[in-house]
Amino acid sequence: MFDDLAALNERPAPFSVYTADTLWTDPHISARMLDFHLDPESDLASRRPASIEAIVDWMDRRFGFGDAAVCDLGCGPGLYAARMAQRGARVTGIDFSSRSIGYARDAARKAGLSMAFEQADYLEAELPPEQDLVCLIYGDLCALSPAQRERLYGKVRRSLKRGGHFVFDVSSVAQFRQRQEQVSYGRRLMDGFWAPGDYFGFLSVFLYGDRNIALDRYLIVEPHRSREIFNWLQYFDPDSIAAELADNGFSIEQVVDVLTGGPLGSSPDEFAVIARL
Ligand SMILES: C[S@@+](CC[C@H](N)C(=O)[O-])C[C@H]1O[C@@H](n2cnc3c(N)ncnc32)[C@H](O)[C@@H]1O
Repeated sequence: MFDDLAALNERPAPFSVYTADTLWTDPHISARMLDFHLDPESDLASRRPASIEAIVDWMDRRFGFGDAAVCDLGCGPGLYAARMAQRGARVTGIDFSSRSIGYARDAARKAGLSMAFEQADYLEAELPPEQDLVCLIYGDLCALSPAQRERLYGKVRRSLKRGGHFVFDVSSVAQFRQRQEQVSYGRRLMDGFWAPGDYFGFLSVFLYGDRNIALDRYLIVEPHRSREIFNWLQYFDPDSIAAELADNGFSIEQVVDVLTGGPLGSSPDEFAVIARL
């Protein structure tokens, strides 16, 4: 136990451990995540329905979903993908959570929407070719290491038609500046989120101030096992993401407010990037 707690208090090298698959595919955690995705009062796993509608609205005005080929990476239960398909897009949703993909497929069938869903890791899978638009929504890029981001950019490049768009949203450096390092623990930390039975949950938050990176490092101690979860978050400003995209063959068409698609304003903690080849 001493060794586990000592490790929890150590500051690992940025992005040295990747556990996002545990967060999204563990049977218990993914069930809790799906509840959060579908909870209209929660912004935890997906935004609330009014925000999703607003985002799909501006994307439709800007790109025109009618008959467009759209690939939604990390589509979760398909809350954006289904709305895009309703507006005429030919959507492929990709996510490695079987629970979320199962929900998205059922919902599409019930709504009579013809959509393709693939349960896959978007860092490994071959993405569909000739796409007009590839999107990655709700800050997922921030969870990836520089090497993983570079890998993803390559896949998106190969997936897009010439002149196609890559649209994603990220957390801002302004949000990073509000964060603080902290340590906390609790029995059944976060109301039973991490395991179905009894457990103790410990959290250490580390900030890497010179690189605008945060780590939420969890240790979950159950009667029969202990697990660690590393949630990394890279925060960006428009200049840092523009430089990274330029290194990877994209140019930024515009940096916009996530909720309106217009000039930055209403939500300083995040911004959306419209990039093209
Ligand atoms: C924050 S949720 C956002 C879901 C959806 N875009 C939304 O906003 O409603 C992130 C989603 O990305 C998926 N995901 C994370 N990393 C992934 C990866 N490497 N490959 C495929 N899916 C991934 C998770 O399973 C989860 O459904």
